[in-house]
Amino acid sequence: MSTKISLISLIVTLMLFVDGAWAGGDVERGAELAADCSDCHGEDGKGDEEVPAIAGMDAAKLAKLLADFKSGAVESDMVDFVGAISEQDMADIAAYYASLPH
Ligand code: HEC
Repeated sequence: MSTKISLISLIVTLMLFVDGAWAGGDVERGAELAADCSDCHGEDGKGDEEVPAIAGMDAAKLAKLLADFKSGAVESDMVDFVGAISEQDMADIAAYYASLPH
């Protein structure tokens, strides 16, 4: 529980320092990492019939979903793809997809 709360406060902090004062949630780094996601979720993150769209999703919500997949709190096929990524990676990927249009 406290891990989730600290992750959420991390994201909130990130949003407050969106000018780049804090290195977290790097959109450009997220774009590179997202190459692994675009096979299924599409280059534009809009998904298809089988894969949900993640473009334009709130960064905090996306990062929390990834953390929940990784921890197993939410059962998903996604566990195989998020198992190896760090919290920093999640924040960066979340920042990237949040920056895309819906
Ligand atoms: C092999 C295909 C595949 C890859 C690669 C993949 N995903 Fe997914 N993703 C899915 C499918 C299918 C679902 C929906 C079913 C589920 O949740 O198990 C999903 C669900 C999600 C969801 C939940 C969306 C929602 O609205 O509930 C998020 C967030 C997500 N993926 C992010 C990512 C990110 C970020 C990456 C890269 C690190 C990634 N995915 C890589 C197939 C993939």
